[in-house]
Amino acid sequence: MPKNSFTELCRDELELCGIKEGSTVAVLSQGNQKVDYVDAFLDAAEGLGATAFNVRLPAVDSSLDGEDGVWEVGETPLAGNRPAIEALKGVDLVVDTVFLLFSPEQMEIQESGTRVLLCIEPVEHIEAMQPSPRLRERVEAGAEILAGAKELRFTNEAGSDVTYKLGAYPVMTQYGYTDTPGRWDHWPSGFLFTGGADDGVDGKVVIAAGDIIFPFKSYVQTPIELTIEKGKIVDIAGGLDADLLSEYMESFDDPDAYGISHIGWGMLETAKWSILAHDRRGMGMHGRSFYGNVLFSTGPNGELGGPNQTLCHVDVPMRNCSLYLDGEPIVIDGDIVVDVLKADEAVGATNG
Ligand SMILES: [Fe+2]
Repeated sequence: MPKNSFTELCRDELELCGIKEGSTVAVLSQGNQKVDYVDAFLDAAEGLGATAFNVRLPAVDSSLDGEDGVWEVGETPLAGNRPAIEALKGVDLVVDTVFLLFSPEQMEIQESGTRVLLCIEPVEHIEAMQPSPRLRERVEAGAEILAGAKELRFTNEAGSDVTYKLGAYPVMTQYGYTDTPGRWDHWPSGFLFTGGADDGVDGKVVIAAGDIIFPFKSYVQTPIELTIEKGKIVDIAGGLDADLLSEYMESFDDPDAYGISHIGWGMLETAKWSILAHDRRGMGMHGRSFYGNVLFSTGPNGELGGPNQTLCHVDVPMRNCSLYLDGEPIVIDGDIVVDVLKADEAVGATNG
């Protein structure tokens, strides 16, 4: 994509984030990574009359590029860098090209009222999944429904039937931009989630052929049957894919790896389920966001305010599931069935 076009995309994005004359924007980067993103955001912010600058840190970790299919959430290059943290707390919006997610430094920046926008995905993915106020409206409508529910249940034809007791944790939204003080978002994305009570998830999740496992960035070929009791995976059964997942989880040597993490569904009609078949770049926001997926996940719930801090986090976007809140259908066979949540135009069959 030509440089000018990406700057224009960044300008649209910053406008959605409420950046205007007199706003302040810091773009956080490390080493010589994502230099073109930094330039585009700085140009775009200037074009809007905002005051912008780049906080560039020594490079600490290159595993976040995502080309290897793994990423680690650990110490960020911002840890211990007090002047940089203070500079970031002083602006309206931090654009994060480093990936601060879940770090204490990010929490501190958000608590100061600064909003944070993560932007590390390939430009082509960003371009394909542009956010809009309409997406926000639909995701927030979903959040209102989810926040009012006491129980979430989802099923699929492969044999999933699992129930989450809700209410212990807040609902989080991602619609790809943020104009709310202290709020974080990720450009691009489009989904929402919450967590079940720590001992309140029970049943079976059968991950079916075509469902995606992150961080493997691969499609399951053989069903994986997870038995869940009181919020813990107690058995993993199946063929080759079950063995791969099982050995991965074992490698953390951590009982908390078997906890249940966030649960929710995808809302973004421009996100493509099939992308990983030909494009494995990035963290996988197509896979997590595609319309009507049920995003099941295991491991930590610290992001929601819970006690599980394990480093073993697996996200599993599942196709063709049916999801119910207090018995009311929200997604049926991979299609969103509540009018206020539906995309404005029918979504193609690729996702189901
Ligand atoms: Fe996740």
